Amino acid sequence: MLSLAPVMVGAKGTSWQGLGGEMSGYWERQGLAEAIGQAVHALGKPTESLTVDDVAQLDQFHGGGKRATERLANAAGLSAGMRVIDVGGGLGGPARTLAAQYGCTVTVIDLTESYVEAARMLTELLGLADRVSHQVGNALELPFSDASFDVVWTQNSGMNIADKERLYAGFRRVVRTEGILAFQEPMAGPVQPPIYPLMWAEDASGSFLRSPDEMSSVIEAAGFERRHWVDATDRKPATGAAPTSPTIQGLIMGERLAAITAAQPRNTEENRVVIYHGVFRARG
Ligand SMILES: C[S@@+](CC[C@H](N)C(=O)[O-])C[C@H]1O[C@@H](n2cnc3c(N)ncnc32)[C@H](O)[C@@H]1O
Repeated sequence: MLSLAPVMVGAKGTSWQGLGGEMSGYWERQGLAEAIGQAVHALGKPTESLTVDDVAQLDQFHGGGKRATERLANAAGLSAGMRVIDVGGGLGGPARTLAAQYGCTVTVIDLTESYVEAARMLTELLGLADRVSHQVGNALELPFSDASFDVVWTQNSGMNIADKERLYAGFRRVVRTEGILAFQEPMAGPVQPPIYPLMWAEDASGSFLRSPDEMSSVIEAAGFERRHWVDATDRKPATGAAPTSPTIQGLIMGERLAAITAAQPRNTEENRVVIYHGVFRARG
């Protein structure tokens, strides 16, 4: 049964030391699982009939929402039985979509403890715990054996990580030869710098974007071959009213969201931040 007590989502402020782990302090939110639980309860649907679509506004924490996850999964040709690792998988919305709609088995790793707790709660609630598991960990120190996955998947999580060479070398290590790397990633557009705050950083100290060409070179040097490379930036001006029910962006960013949303049009329209979808194959 979901809690109905009022819940405050507050910054927790804990951090991992080094290796990019200090970013966990930026993302951590106390009471997040309870707040998401309440928002799910407010949907008014019986728990046993909840679907990944019902909760998409609360667990797909990246531009383009669940549609972007589906577009990337289709481009990557994901299919039933594939073993996927979702790096920086957050609240687990993408992972549950890959399990429920594509038949994949997904291991999610994320640095932020409160997200992992909320993700486990949602995975249980949606009855997907046999196919999706969650653990706390750092993308730069993946605690898995070599070649243990068919697919490395990541959406909007590498932008906090400066050492891209180490990140992608780790991805190549854990995916089998001929396996797939599929990602959605904010990158540096031709006009720099970005306007802050960004969703992932208050200022330049937390954002590590490289240009699409630089990213492609790093990934190819790590042992991948490019198959699909698309500028997926949504440059349409925002239209319509603000959402009336809670979104994951609102729950996590709270009052900070207004400044992030105000900066966003300049970042996309002036080509300061671009979003790429990439699908690569692991070379032997
Ligand atoms: C914007 S959220 C995206 C979450 C999820 N991929 C999604 O699209 O719904 C960024 C995520 O990256 C995670 N992250 C940032 N740096 C990380 C690192 N070094 N290792 C693992 N996760 C990291 C954060 O904890 C956060 O959950």
